Amino acid sequence: MVFMHNSTMNLLAISGTYRKGGTIDRLIDHAIEGARAADPRIEVERVQLIDQRIEYCRNCMACKKDDPAKPYARCVIDDDMQSIYPLIERADAYIFGTPVNMAHETAVMKTFLERVCWVFSRPSPRWRPLKGCPEPRSSRKKKAGIIVSSGLVPPLLRIFCDEATSLLKSTCGCVLNAKVVGSFYAGAVHARGVEPYLEKAFNLGRALVD
Ligand SMILES: Cc1cc2nc3c(=O)[nH]c(=O)nc-3n(C[C@H](O)[C@H](O)[C@H](O)COP(=O)(O)O)c2cc1C
Repeated sequence: MVFMHNSTMNLLAISGTYRKGGTIDRLIDHAIEGARAADPRIEVERVQLIDQRIEYCRNCMACKKDDPAKPYARCVIDDDMQSIYPLIERADAYIFGTPVNMAHETAVMKTFLERVCWVFSRPSPRWRPLKGCPEPRSSRKKKAGIIVSSGLVPPLLRIFCDEATSLLKSTCGCVLNAKVVGSFYAGAVHARGVEPYLEKAFNLGRALVD
């Protein structure tokens, strides 16, 4: 008997830029194009964080204490994150995009990640030093791609101007159970523009599906 697989991949793109249609949004567009080129059937959701009402985490720890068997914990804050959580849960792959502002992800991206942290992870029961650190609630293996842009600092000097990628990578690994299959830094876009990085973005999207 032949089993037909018609399940399509669900891709969630999350943009942390303040400028709609700017560098990060164009790179995310190309990554989505690359993913669609690899598989036209994929379903794509896109969240523009700046358009959402996202409050700060209150450190109430209700999510951290919630039943560790749940696929994602309940957050007590009644804002737009409540409709984003199911999208995060459903996704098979993620694209995260953020400019670096003062060498870090944007404040809206950080606010978002803090609201994701203990909702999608639970304290690890393993021995020290990992005991109590976040481990993903989901056992479903996912994939992720990370895009970071900077205005001034070129790729060669990235080490001085990119704290964003490491935070996104650790969130993918420790919280979302997502393997980072591609990541790049679009440096010095004020001088270079976005064009030199479009192909990288396309290839990153394709790698998420391949
Ligand atoms: C408050 C602020 C801080 C910034 N800090 C840096 C920085 O540390 N290094 C840098 O190269 N660019 C910096 N930039 C420039 C942004 O990284 C750049 O404008 C952004 O990557 C462009 O992406 P966008 O078109 O999606 O906004 C900063 C921009 C702002 C508004």
